[in-house]
Amino acid sequence: MADSSQENIGITISNHLLLNQQLSTGATGSYTRLLQALVLACKIIQRDVAKAGLVDVLGRAGTINVQGEEVQKLDELANTTVKRRLSASGECCGLISEEEADIIEIPRQYPQGNYLVHFDPLDGSSNIDANVSIGTIFSIYRRITPATNDMDLQDALQRGVEQVGAGYVIYGSSCILVFSTGQGVNGFTLDPSIGEFLLSHPNIKTPARGKIYSINEGNYSYWDEPTKKYIDYLKNGYAEHKTNYTARYVGSLVADFHRNLLYGGIFLYPADLKDPKKPHGKLRLMCEANPLAYIVEQAGGLATSGRERIMEVEPRYIHQRTPLIIGSPEDVRLYQEFVEGRRS
Ligand code: AHG
Ligand code: MN
Ligand code: MN
Repeated sequence: MADSSQENIGITISNHLLLNQQLSTGATGSYTRLLQALVLACKIIQRDVAKAGLVDVLGRAGTINVQGEEVQKLDELANTTVKRRLSASGECCGLISEEEADIIEIPRQYPQGNYLVHFDPLDGSSNIDANVSIGTIFSIYRRITPATNDMDLQDALQRGVEQVGAGYVIYGSSCILVFSTGQGVNGFTLDPSIGEFLLSHPNIKTPARGKIYSINEGNYSYWDEPTKKYIDYLKNGYAEHKTNYTARYVGSLVADFHRNLLYGGIFLYPADLKDPKKPHGKLRLMCEANPLAYIVEQAGGLATSGRERIMEVEPRYIHQRTPLIIGSPEDVRLYQEFVEGRRS
């Protein structure tokens, strides 16, 4: 047995958060406590996901959520876990979950804090039973209404540029937590033998251009013309690069996004012109597009709705959907050339 006193386990996420706090003038520790509550929630969800096949948490919960989607048992479990941990942190004034119609109030037995979190408790739920990577996505804001009142829609409907932090966890071959508080992007991998997230991907920067495009080609006939032309262009090996792109699509946004963030490339979920349920696409602005847009911009990438920068989209309601085109800057800019008619 190696002498553990000599073992160098590297930087834990707790070290990283406390160092960040020491470097932030005037920091009170509130934000650190909020992030630590999120980390604990993700460890609990990872535990539940890892044993999903062994206990009765696979399959459908038998209910339909506010999105009109079948709720999986693990969706409910993850949702409850995030709500409990964030409420107990005493740092939140309210929560907004993809799984619930309205703002979630913090139970009165807990202190009311100054932060609110939009979250997708389990992203890629359709993949759970097939053991394909899934994840949790979160987006953090400060409240803007007086602390004497309950949090309201004015707090919940802030543009993505107002985020003070965002991140995601992937429950896959390993459990990786990637987040940013505005000073770059760092990735931490869970070491289950000690139950700690250890810094594994410091200061992530996404490549300027990739060779991967991610889109559900089954929806081809529903796309707008610029999207069709762009994807056709990638597939036909365009002139100046003479290289075809590779298609990679997992069907879990966090998994597709994380791969493209590290390897380079572009993910697209455009508007669906024929599905009245998805005229603005399928993905949610507040708990999917904005947090990943925050991360990708911190890593040097871009995120657009096709019309505007994702983080500048004006939210009108909490479960608003948006087309999402996100990834390497040169790839997203090339897509924009098709949208703006500068290329056909
Ligand atoms: P969620 O499981 O939180 O509802 O998210 C599923 C999303 C996203 O993870 C993925 O990119 C997209 O659905 C896949 O949609 P299609 O199956 O329509 O391609
Ligand atoms: Mn999702
Ligand atoms: Mn979800």
